[in-house]
Amino acid sequence: MTKEYSIAVIPGDGTGPEVISEGIKILETVADKCGFVINFAHYNLGGEHYRATGEILPDKVLESLALSDAIYLGAIGHPDVKPGILEKGILLKLRFHFDQYINLRPVKLYVGVNTPLKNKLPEDIDFVVIRENTEGLYVGAGGCLKRGTPDEVAIQESINTRKGVERCIRYAFEYCRKRNQAKKLTLCGKTNVLTFAFDLWERTFNEVAKEYPDIKTDYAHVDAVCMWMIKNPEWFDVIVTDNMFGDIITDLAAMIQGGMGIAAGGNINPGGVSMFEPIGGSAPKYTGKQVINPIAAVFAAQIMLETIGENKAAALIEKGVAKVLRDDLKDVGAGRMGYTTKEVGDLIKGYIETEQF
Ligand code: IPM
Ligand code: MN
Repeated sequence: MTKEYSIAVIPGDGTGPEVISEGIKILETVADKCGFVINFAHYNLGGEHYRATGEILPDKVLESLALSDAIYLGAIGHPDVKPGILEKGILLKLRFHFDQYINLRPVKLYVGVNTPLKNKLPEDIDFVVIRENTEGLYVGAGGCLKRGTPDEVAIQESINTRKGVERCIRYAFEYCRKRNQAKKLTLCGKTNVLTFAFDLWERTFNEVAKEYPDIKTDYAHVDAVCMWMIKNPEWFDVIVTDNMFGDIITDLAAMIQGGMGIAAGGNINPGGVSMFEPIGGSAPKYTGKQVINPIAAVFAAQIMLETIGENKAAALIEKGVAKVLRDDLKDVGAGRMGYTTKEVGDLIKGYIETEQF
């Protein structure tokens, strides 16, 4: 029997829809090649929808998304909606509601892509960041007193639970083993200052490490991780860290792999509904102009297929994209593509169809 998947698509705002439609094109291409079927269900959510209807993310939509095998998200963000409303109301709500406790961010420099790091080659930049995705500063614990007065107090606390930290660290060890490269897992923290939160992280990390004697472990403070990512990115294989530090270091990492046009991530609940997205944002001023690189969205589709176990299809996507990056898009990471969003999608599709890599 032909395997069927139902994928919920949230194209979202700005340039989200145009990059997602290229991703869908590529998903359909590899599904055809590998003999499975994907049924896409589109959901109209985001800033436009909110402004038109006042709706952010209705419960009935959450119930329907829960029935899908995965969620494919374009971008959320609108220039006329106050910052925080859509981020918290859609993106973070989905992460929390579906308990997507892993934020997985592969960082790889492909041949043909420019990195701002002088003298660094593709073999030097190839690591994965595993960011805890449901706790820390993102929980929204805290509050304010006497807002707007000279006596104002604002408190925002980082929540770290043993269970939440441990499941993330375990995932990272398993991932590192499965990735089977340098087999080195680096904990990124701040044990010298955040002596409660990262004490919990460090103890948990060291305990879980005993179950993985084949994995080398390392520790670095988050500020040092930033330094080394620029100076010696080849030191990293897999990095595990908390939500806030993960947010920051993955933007830095995106820049050294060629920028937001390439960077993609997965919000993963290994036992539930996961969500995959290009991380670049909605880029409102470029909406409809066909100038945004769809590769980040296509890589998001690749991570989605890997996560649902369609490894052969995922590998085809990677080969097709690597070919386009190597042979066609000479200026990625330097600001120009030389092709429209749709043309890049068509090139990738063509290479996959003819298996011309
Ligand atoms: C990301 C984004 C989000 C985050 C924002 C949009 C809330 O920056 O996915 O990294 O901070 O997690
Ligand atoms: Mn971010």
